[in-house]
Amino acid sequence: MAGYNTLDTLDVTGKRVLVRLDLNVPMKDGAITDTTRLDRVLPTIKELVGNGAKVIALSHFGRPKGQPNPDMSLAPVATALGELLGQPVGFAADCIGETAATAVNAMNDGDVLVLENTRFHAGEETNDPEFAKALAANGDLYVNDAFSAAHRAHGSTEGIARTLPSVAGRAMQKELEALDAALGNPERPVVAVVGGAKVSSKIELLKNLVGKVDHLLIGGAMANTFLAARGMPVGKSLHEPDLKGLALEILNEAGTKGCEIVLPVDGVVAKELAPNTKSMTLAADQTPDDGMILDAGTSSVAEFGIRFEGAKTVVWNGPLGAFETPPFDTATTITLRHVGMLAKAGRLKAIAGGGDTVAAINHAGNVYENFTYVSTAGGAFLEWLEGKTLPGVAALEK
Ligand code: 3PG
Repeated sequence: MAGYNTLDTLDVTGKRVLVRLDLNVPMKDGAITDTTRLDRVLPTIKELVGNGAKVIALSHFGRPKGQPNPDMSLAPVATALGELLGQPVGFAADCIGETAATAVNAMNDGDVLVLENTRFHAGEETNDPEFAKALAANGDLYVNDAFSAAHRAHGSTEGIARTLPSVAGRAMQKELEALDAALGNPERPVVAVVGGAKVSSKIELLKNLVGKVDHLLIGGAMANTFLAARGMPVGKSLHEPDLKGLALEILNEAGTKGCEIVLPVDGVVAKELAPNTKSMTLAADQTPDDGMILDAGTSSVAEFGIRFEGAKTVVWNGPLGAFETPPFDTATTITLRHVGMLAKAGRLKAIAGGGDTVAAINHAGNVYENFTYVSTAGGAFLEWLEGKTLPGVAALEK
């Protein structure tokens, strides 16, 4: 990207600062089950508070489709944010209009207020300029600290940034710096690991990566489609026969662009996907008709390991097997730990992101803290890896 301003360039004292956060945290029975997204935005809020700003948080929560919905209120998240912040956080039951304006007008410097879910208004998702203006009416400045919502061209992520002086918050800045180190301007060799179930959901990603990375390691059920394209038997394994042609195209394109694609050379094969079911490791050309490949085998893990040992940068998206069902978590866990160890030793930078990937990292243990950066963004991380422009980031460009 062309460059963006950060909090360093803002004088916020006494100013009303609208801060776009992603407060779309996982919740169960009214309780937040993972506060990572809140923890990550605390530095921005604390810095603004410390500099005497009035901090007014904007966020979506869930997908209420332009209608108020009490089940998707941000009120409980505001309370949780206050607990983590160590100071009371106010809440206003609307993000625009009288209700919001009254709450904002009552703020003192250093106060924090959360406005209700922006998606309770249809204008948020249609990026209606009038809605963006109504949001902007309560602020002097705009800070976007929600990378994970930056792939949405919405009123609170894009429209408003075109209306007020706008900068990236600290979490956004950190994310963009990590992504730049991963693919924008990386130290080479770069190894990308792409796993998950379907080639169809990652076509753009694979096409972008073959032009950018030195080694592309493919795992998970999507590797089966590539194996089938190369004429290997895949038995009853999950794969997409219709996409064999596309897989061959990607393999050929990688060849012309100097990217080595590394497919599993063996797999852990079972007759069913069930915890601790009987399984065996077989070479990739030995999968029986009634077998399912559910994880990469030990020789594949060793092959992947050789690429990691030579890498300076590793980018990771997607698990290498059915990691939710042991023992098919083995390849994912071992390889994640290996990369984590190399990152901890300072031998490479390791950047990971995506919903399943974060779950796999948490499952593996001793990995999260060793990786250079783990993105909590799902769709936004993927779209960025696909090489797309994210509207919420583009709107911050100088
Ligand atoms: C996410 O959880 O990935 C972000 O909050 C974006 O949510 P959305 O997919 O509903 O836009």
